[in-house]
Amino acid sequence: MANTIVSEQDIQKFRAETAGTAQKIHFNNAGSSLPPDVVVDTVINYLKEEAVSGGYETEFKYKDELENTYGLIARLINAKPNEIAIVENASTAWSSAFYAIDFKAGDEVITSEMEYVTNLIAFANAEKRSGISIKVIPNDPQGNFPLTDLEKAITPQTKLIAVTQIPSTAGGMIPIVEIGKIARKHNILYLVDACQSAGQLPLDVAEIGCDMLSVTGRKYLRAPRGTGFLYVRKEIQSQLRPIFMDGYTADLLNQHEFKIRDDARRFELYENNRALVLGLGKAVEYALNIGVDKIWERIQFLANLLRQQLKAIEGITIHDFGAEQCGIVTFSVNGVDSTLVKSKLAEKNINVSVGKTASTLIYMDKNHLSSIVRASVHYYNTEEEVWVLCRELGALVK
Ligand SMILES: Cc1ncc(COP(=O)(O)O)c(C=O)c1O
Repeated sequence: MANTIVSEQDIQKFRAETAGTAQKIHFNNAGSSLPPDVVVDTVINYLKEEAVSGGYETEFKYKDELENTYGLIARLINAKPNEIAIVENASTAWSSAFYAIDFKAGDEVITSEMEYVTNLIAFANAEKRSGISIKVIPNDPQGNFPLTDLEKAITPQTKLIAVTQIPSTAGGMIPIVEIGKIARKHNILYLVDACQSAGQLPLDVAEIGCDMLSVTGRKYLRAPRGTGFLYVRKEIQSQLRPIFMDGYTADLLNQHEFKIRDDARRFELYENNRALVLGLGKAVEYALNIGVDKIWERIQFLANLLRQQLKAIEGITIHDFGAEQCGIVTFSVNGVDSTLVKSKLAEKNINVSVGKTASTLIYMDKNHLSSIVRASVHYYNTEEEVWVLCRELGALVK
């Protein structure tokens, strides 16, 4: 298998710029990846400055840098800065968009079996509160999303198509560009959960054709915890009604009237953690400087290597389905509980995580999976780390 366009020297440089790589073999990038040192320093230095200069005064000093974060995010996904809202996490981003839709009884939402728990809870909630109905399009037996079934499921009542591109607990992927073409053709609102995608692979909202897209910072973007963002296409912003508003998101005209601002920041509140916003910006800049296309190539290379090596270990079952697979590698060790696998690997200084049924309920139930081990690779992982992981897993099955 050929190595990737990211050179060995580049990898060593990225590792030298990431303190955590010297301490741990980190394969929990789908949980939260190791941030580059520059991201950590940015946050700490900003907080220190706030402590001595005052919060508002520091914000004023850094207003251009803070504003620049919107521009960097816009570049990352090929949007405009006024289409970006910065929030605390992907669940807030996704929910802010979903609950802003004016659902009426009888409206239908179409989704896939890979949808994340937050989104499934919101669907169930809207079923009860607004009388909408949810249609789930199951993957075909090979684990691919059947586009023709989606077309067939659309009716005049279909208000929204909402899908998660990369699920929390599986290595497969949902074809968001092809789904976008169908959504556009039928003029249906389209919401994409790109929580695990941003920073892992190139995202272009114009190509995807989505109206809304939600992201978290701490996973493949390598930003601090407590960061995320929502993209909302300019043309549909005024159709969406934010649930929470303050004097930043809306102008109070008199005691009974208010006017909501006309950019995506209608989904923000004024008070947030400025240090983290700057840290998010630095992380996005770091990814852009490397090139997300290169990152994606390296991740696919490492994930393929890992899957190949796992296949060679008797007693390990890989659970990833579908023609296109990502950096999340899921498997079970026969006869060893996933939680025990995780803790045994932790004793060897290796971080992996355990994916539970609830995270991707429909998919996990369908495949009779109660929990899986999730080893998620990032570009800064090395081939040697993959070998060490497989060696330790091999020792566990013996
Ligand atoms: C696919 C997917 N969507 C959404 C989320 C929620 O992200 P957050 O924890 O930032 O709200 C996760 C988190 O694991 C996820 O894996």
